[in-house]
Amino acid sequence: MASEVIVARKRACEEALKRVVELKPRIMGIGTGSTVELFVEVLSKRRENLRETAYVCSSLHTCHILSEKGFTVLHLGSTTSIDVYVDGADEVDSELNMIKGGGAAATLEKILAYGSKYRIYVIDYTKLVKKLGEKHAIPVEVLPEALGIVLTRLRMLGLNISIRTLTSGKYGFVMSDTRGVIIDVKPPNWWSPRDLEKVIRSIPGVVETGLFIDLADEVFVGYPDRVEVLRKPRKNNFRAEEF
Ligand code: 5RP
Repeated sequence: MASEVIVARKRACEEALKRVVELKPRIMGIGTGSTVELFVEVLSKRRENLRETAYVCSSLHTCHILSEKGFTVLHLGSTTSIDVYVDGADEVDSELNMIKGGGAAATLEKILAYGSKYRIYVIDYTKLVKKLGEKHAIPVEVLPEALGIVLTRLRMLGLNISIRTLTSGKYGFVMSDTRGVIIDVKPPNWWSPRDLEKVIRSIPGVVETGLFIDLADEVFVGYPDRVEVLRKPRKNNFRAEEF
């Protein structure tokens, strides 16, 4: 990764942490990925500001990093509401819709985002896109038992797909922390995020997709020399406190 991208991400993490401190979360959700690792680094150097905070995570990997650093980690399954969620993203458009799941953690990430009162994403400038799908395929998590049927259906829909495979450590498919197989779907020209999400989610055996629609409140975009904060108007957002 280019050094200016790392600088940009680090700047964005530092600004995002300032926002988190203002929000004083009692329970904080943390996503998965290299940006999140950077955020946890920054967080661990300023931990005195969040002494009372406990954490829930979107992957065993993030839980492990946090617990190694001495943070209190809760089980997501026994967490009823999250005050603030912080995560990275693969692509973000001007409406703050996103593609996520490059780390195969989109299912738990979506649960955390859905259950959080405030959702903050941290990205670098290379991840802003005009239209989702410009650079990344859409991850679709599928129950192993449904793999063949789901593949057939996606092919019938004319979608360009591939099953995500590991490049080292084990031969074969990437399995998520929720034991799903990840199919990467290249968005077709005709697609709109909402329509494609609806079509794919209607197939039995599909657990989740990496399309995150209306699940962001703020996006901190790091540039080598500054950070820009993109905000979504509150009225369009689902809020956990409106349950
Ligand atoms: C993991 C994710 C990540 O947030 C996304 O892939 C971005 O990762 P990185 O910060 O390493 O670029 O969705 O499932």
